[in-house]
Amino acid sequence: MNIEGAVVLVTGANRGIGAEFVDQLKKRGAAKIYAAARDAGAITAEGVVPLELDITNAGQVEAAAAAAGDVQVLINNAGISTGTALVAGDEATIRREMDTNFYGPLLMTRAFAPVLGANGGGAILNVVSALSWFTAPGAGAYAASKAAAWALTDSTRLELAAQGTHVVGVHMGLVDTDMARAVDAPKIASSALASAGLDAIESGAQEVLADDWAKFVKSGLSLDPKARYEQIFAALGA
Ligand SMILES: NC(=O)c1ccc[n+]([C@@H]2O[C@H](COP(=O)([O-])OP(=O)(O)OC[C@H]3O[C@@H](n4cnc5c(N)ncnc54)[C@H](OP(=O)(O)O)[C@@H]3O)[C@@H](O)[C@H]2O)c1
Repeated sequence: MNIEGAVVLVTGANRGIGAEFVDQLKKRGAAKIYAAARDAGAITAEGVVPLELDITNAGQVEAAAAAAGDVQVLINNAGISTGTALVAGDEATIRREMDTNFYGPLLMTRAFAPVLGANGGGAILNVVSALSWFTAPGAGAYAASKAAAWALTDSTRLELAAQGTHVVGVHMGLVDTDMARAVDAPKIASSALASAGLDAIESGAQEVLADDWAKFVKSGLSLDPKARYEQIFAALGA
């Protein structure tokens, strides 16, 4: 489908990758952009429709679907990374990470599926992560939530095929935003990531491996865990 002329909603649109999606949607000629954020006042982009939306708040998600009944493309971008381990980490934080990175996109998908169906099928783009396919010490809660987001992406693609909704998953290593600020390692620009995601919506691709790290991690999935993690930690220099 073409972005030009399309009506698109982006979650977490106030900063990072979400703000970059908004920028590129404008450049590609989207007809209307709902820029959703927990604090709608934090949306500084011009020419967009700001929407107050915490994706973990079911009432706000329903209200967004009611207010934005013309949406054709949903970009589930909002997410958090808390650096919480699964065994020793704080349970409430683990649940918050799952609420944001899995249940949030799930609530959004359930609320907007009828909207997309009524508007011709459209597309959903889920910003997932290469951490859907591996984990590391301190990334347990995030990796679990992103593995669930990967399964969400595949399941909803199957469930929404009959109504013609194209579902895309975007996987990548580090992107140069606030989320990865504390990590000193190679990062891709949020512009490269957003551009690869929008290209997939336009081409019909179902999965985007946006950088070499995502390609490397996915290529090792058929190995047994011992060999797989030896390979991953060697690549990380850990
Ligand atoms: N940066 C990376 O290295 C990297 C790598 C792989 C995947 N990702 C994924 O890429 C996506 C975007 O991340 P980013 O790098 O742009 O991070 P970021 O700069 O930290 O931005 C995160 C965005 O998500 C929003 N958000 C968080 N919780 C929310 C909630 N409950 N409801 C609505 N919005 C919420 C934030 O809003 P506030 O301003 O209100 O906090 C912010 O707009 C996430 O799904 C992330 O997991 C990032």
